[in-house]
Amino acid sequence: MEIVDRVMIVTGASSGIGAATVRLAHQRGARVVLAARRADRLEELAVELPGSLPVTTDVTQPEQVARLIEQALAAFGRIDALVNNAGQGLHVPLEQVEPDAFREVFELNVLAPLALMQAVLPAMRRQGGGAIVNISSGTSRMALPGVAAYASTKAALNLLSNTARAEFAKDGIVVSLVYPSVTATEFHQVLRQGATSSRRLPFEPQTPESVAEAILRAIETGEAEIVLGHTPAPAD
Ligand SMILES: NC(=O)c1ccc[n+]([C@@H]2O[C@H](COP(=O)([O-])OP(=O)(O)OC[C@H]3O[C@@H](n4cnc5c(N)ncnc54)[C@H](OP(=O)(O)O)[C@@H]3O)[C@@H](O)[C@H]2O)c1
Repeated sequence: MEIVDRVMIVTGASSGIGAATVRLAHQRGARVVLAARRADRLEELAVELPGSLPVTTDVTQPEQVARLIEQALAAFGRIDALVNNAGQGLHVPLEQVEPDAFREVFELNVLAPLALMQAVLPAMRRQGGGAIVNISSGTSRMALPGVAAYASTKAALNLLSNTARAEFAKDGIVVSLVYPSVTATEFHQVLRQGATSSRRLPFEPQTPESVAEAILRAIETGEAEIVLGHTPAPAD
């Protein structure tokens, strides 16, 4: 799918990977719908990106998801692409995982993307197709101590996503996964529980802009998975 003129909903558009994705998509001619909770950030972005549509949305609230879809359709008449990017980390050893924290992160990282996929299906079916990109994490492909609760939500998303790819193919809807590695965003400051290690990483974090490039590539090519790696850190 070409990016130009496409109507694209991006969740978690108020910072990091989501903000970089809407900027890049807008630059390439997409009509972007900005979804996140922080209205002030979305309003600022909407000024920066003329023609974009900010819709303050908590993606864990079904009525807000329904309103997001309604507003996108009212403004643009169609939905060509959905980027399920909103997410949060939970980085503690398993014995410290608080059930309520895990439930909240599961709702955000798994149930919300599922609800959004369900919500865009009718419009995409009517149009004869669409693209969905779910943002996973490299951590879901390894057993990394201290990160398993978060990683397991992304592992659940992987299976939902791969199954959605098989189930929606008959409707021309292509579902892809992008697996970012450590990326320089606010993610590491707003973990639901725990903290990202302050030890210097043996590699450079990725930029949100490089992840955004991969997300748009997934929409363009429809490839099933894009796994992002690291570049070695410069020697001291
Ligand atoms: N950064 C990394 O190292 C890394 C690595 C692998 C995967 N990822 C994944 O990449 C995705 C984007 O993360 P990021 O790194 O860009 O982090 P970020 O800068 O913290 O962005 C997270 C976004 O999610 C939104 N969000 C959180 N809760 C929400 C809710 N209930 N409803 C709607 N939006 C919500 C936040 O906006 P509001 O607060 O305004 O709602 C924010 O825009 C996440 O799924 C994350 O798991 C990140």
